[in-house]
Amino acid sequence: MSLSMNGRTLMSMLGNGVRFVSFRSKHSGPKVALLGANGGIGQPLGLLLKINPNIGRLALYDIVGTPGVAADLSHIDSPAEVKAFTGPQELQKALEGADVVVIPAGVPRKPGMTRDDLFNTNAGIVRDLCEAVAKTCPKAFVAIITNPVNSTVPIASEVFKKHNVYDPKRIFGVTTLDVVRAQAFVSTMKGTDVSKTTVPVIGGHAGVTIIPLLSQVKPSVKFSDSEVKPLTERIQDAGTEVVQAKAGAGSATLSMAFAGERFVNALLKGLKGEKQVQCAYVKSDAVQGVEYFSTPIELGPNGVEKILGTGTLNAFEKQLVQSAIPELKSSIEKGVKFVKK
Ligand SMILES: NC(=O)c1ccc[n+]([C@@H]2O[C@H](COP(=O)([O-])OP(=O)(O)OC[C@H]3O[C@@H](n4cnc5c(N)ncnc54)[C@H](O)[C@@H]3O)[C@@H](O)[C@H]2O)c1
Repeated sequence: MSLSMNGRTLMSMLGNGVRFVSFRSKHSGPKVALLGANGGIGQPLGLLLKINPNIGRLALYDIVGTPGVAADLSHIDSPAEVKAFTGPQELQKALEGADVVVIPAGVPRKPGMTRDDLFNTNAGIVRDLCEAVAKTCPKAFVAIITNPVNSTVPIASEVFKKHNVYDPKRIFGVTTLDVVRAQAFVSTMKGTDVSKTTVPVIGGHAGVTIIPLLSQVKPSVKFSDSEVKPLTERIQDAGTEVVQAKAGAGSATLSMAFAGERFVNALLKGLKGEKQVQCAYVKSDAVQGVEYFSTPIELGPNGVEKILGTGTLNAFEKQLVQSAIPELKSSIEKGVKFVKK
């Protein structure tokens, strides 16, 4: 007779004896490298990735503090093998064989700051980390959380181009938190089942470039004109709501970790051949005049399999897209210039 406990311990009765056999995982399954693993996002995201059954190996990289985070997480009885890597001399080892690289490394906003104010510090961090990715695991999917996402994705792309390993299908700006927020706010406002409410959010990931498509909410709900504008603005400013509430202690970390894990899990499922649809900020021709844009995309074994586009926009949403284009353009140019300088 045998009994499975927690999916990994087998109690077998052999003759008159009882034996417990522990099946600590064989660490098969994809490798995820988390760069910035000791941070406000990195720690809870590491936790969620550790308990994701689709992950075989989890490499935690930071410039400080990773041994503690890894020791802590490694005591969780889930299959993923956790290893710590600290400082640039260990970055290559962290990245070797990675299927997905997630980057939340960098400084967050303080009250009064825009995401673009982070550029000076974070641009160099993302560039240097992507240099190592391009050299060590150029085929990995790269999910960039570090702000300003509207610029850090073009930075990553330029680094990959420089190394002749650029594949636009594999570089993603993580905008999932905007979708998560929109879905939370809409379902609260309209009383819909939050687990079934979907709201596409397109554009970019900063202020007016965040464009929730309230006309495409599913299941379909009606918004009055007096609801649409304030709800749109709340979704656009939701990050600032958290920055202000934390009063100098940083920006969204827990909800971001939740959103980051949702996106990474979709990448991993796509890798396995299970089609997934997510919004993400990628190289895109969905909207004329900008090279990068977030829309729903289909994810699969090669990363972006299909850009699904904006769908039909109403007049208000068309106007939002037009207002976003100049800011997106200048953020993209700023990122490109930073690498080419
Ligand atoms: N995409 C989004 O929706 C979204 C949402 C929230 C926050 N963010 C952004 O995520 C980033 C991280 O936020 P946080 O709250 O975790 O910040 P944090 O300061 O708490 O953590 C950042 C971590 O990065 C590490 N780090 C710094 N330089 C590094 C380097 N060169 N290599 C590796 N690690 C390095 C730090 O040691 C720290 O552990 C910020 O840029 C923030 O603006 C993005």
